[in-house]
Amino acid sequence: MTLKNGEKNKVSGLLLYEQVAGEITGLIKQGTFRTGDRVPSIRQLSRRFDVSINTVMQAYSMLEDQRLIEARPQSGYYVRSRVPEIRETVLPARSFSAPTTVTISDLCHQVMRNMMNPDLLPLGSAIPYARNLPIDKLNRIMASELRRFGEQSVMYQMPPGYERLRVQIARRALVAGISSGPNDIMVTSGCVEAVFLALRATCHAGDTIAVESPFYFNFMQMIAELGLKALEIPSTPRDGISIEALRYAIEQGKISACLVITNFSNPLGSLMPEERKRELVELLASHEIPLIEDDIYGDLTFGNERPSAAKSFDRSGLVIYCSSFSKTIAPGYRVGWAIAGRFQEEMERIKMIMNIAPASPPQLAIAEFLATGGYEHHLRSIRRIHARNMSQMADAVARYFPPGTRMTHPDGGFMLWVEMQEGIDAIMLYHQALEQGISIVPGPLFSLSSKYRHHIRLSAAQWDEKIEQGIRVLGTLAHKLMPE
Ligand SMILES: Cc1ncc(COP(=O)(O)O)c(C=O)c1O
Repeated sequence: MTLKNGEKNKVSGLLLYEQVAGEITGLIKQGTFRTGDRVPSIRQLSRRFDVSINTVMQAYSMLEDQRLIEARPQSGYYVRSRVPEIRETVLPARSFSAPTTVTISDLCHQVMRNMMNPDLLPLGSAIPYARNLPIDKLNRIMASELRRFGEQSVMYQMPPGYERLRVQIARRALVAGISSGPNDIMVTSGCVEAVFLALRATCHAGDTIAVESPFYFNFMQMIAELGLKALEIPSTPRDGISIEALRYAIEQGKISACLVITNFSNPLGSLMPEERKRELVELLASHEIPLIEDDIYGDLTFGNERPSAAKSFDRSGLVIYCSSFSKTIAPGYRVGWAIAGRFQEEMERIKMIMNIAPASPPQLAIAEFLATGGYEHHLRSIRRIHARNMSQMADAVARYFPPGTRMTHPDGGFMLWVEMQEGIDAIMLYHQALEQGISIVPGPLFSLSSKYRHHIRLSAAQWDEKIEQGIRVLGTLAHKLMPE
């Protein structure tokens, strides 16, 4: 093809950038570039077709809109998976069920235990792959911090926690649009403790909490432990929790708090658009309802800019922001934090009763890592790995799973939500996969109302031949479970 800058093709009548886009589309269709492959760089294409950089950028932007390719930070453009994407679900504003008293199922415990079982292939667990974590650097930093602090390293760091760490967290919070000082931050034992304290500080037994549906099952259990009721509000992979349904729910009955994973939620991977975050915060504030925001995956965006937190729109101190370094640096360090606004004092009080203080050595190490260890550099590396893993996993699902399978295409995190043909029982698939040495998380765990029976959650934290083989086995099992 010879392309001339500024000319329309005489036969097709296409503009120049449309011709470039057409060429690349053709190459993808022919299989020259497959899912997860990098397509030529903007500069290469501009030279190859003798067109301007701008023209290629327009072409690539068009292909991105068509969801054929995706940009990855610092890395270039890649072919997206062709497995049909779950983007929207039909969301009538009144489609939620009544608040439900949560029961802790044995299955939930079993699934959690299996996730940690080293003898099983972890295809569903939300735990980062150890080889992607900066273990050597952290070990070195920990050893030198323990020497540096001597006796102090074994003493309590009373709430709100080690000050140098809180300074580092306050600086990073700015990237999520949150202006806070170190005194606004309290260190917790992981994000889970931050959420637990937030629920304790805002609700009493019998109260109703609005949550997304599908929803992270560990929080369901926490809600149960506290004697609370969960009201599931529909959520979509694209926009997250439905504000319309939530508004309707608030009008219908008392809601004591709302718990939302705003960025790359678990399991849908949804990223709430900025405007929706603002609406959510304003809606809840107008009814004096606290928002508990879990932003544990926000740093794992595949885009150039980290998404903001709903907390950045908080004007009334009603948003309790919760996060941790469990998905990015070290889950076992158990270093999380809350920016709790009006509720900080109460949360610190409860924390002191429960466990006095978060462990000291991990706080020392993480503070030093954030200050000197190249956290941003590390993030860039794991974001790239996760983005590539996700494409490869999606491609494998497209290859091995039965027809009719759809899945989410998140722009961050490392969770994939797979919807199989109706009639394929996810719990049966979970049990049969276990027999083959594979652990997944079945969809029904993410709801209290028997939904998501033909869904599973997969994790793209790790990708290698063993994992691909595992997806193939899962696909074969799913084929066998197809209704006649
Ligand atoms: C949304 C979400 N919040 C919190 C956690 C756990 O966080 P932590 O290990 O920091 O307590 C997880 C882990 O799967 C999660 O997916």
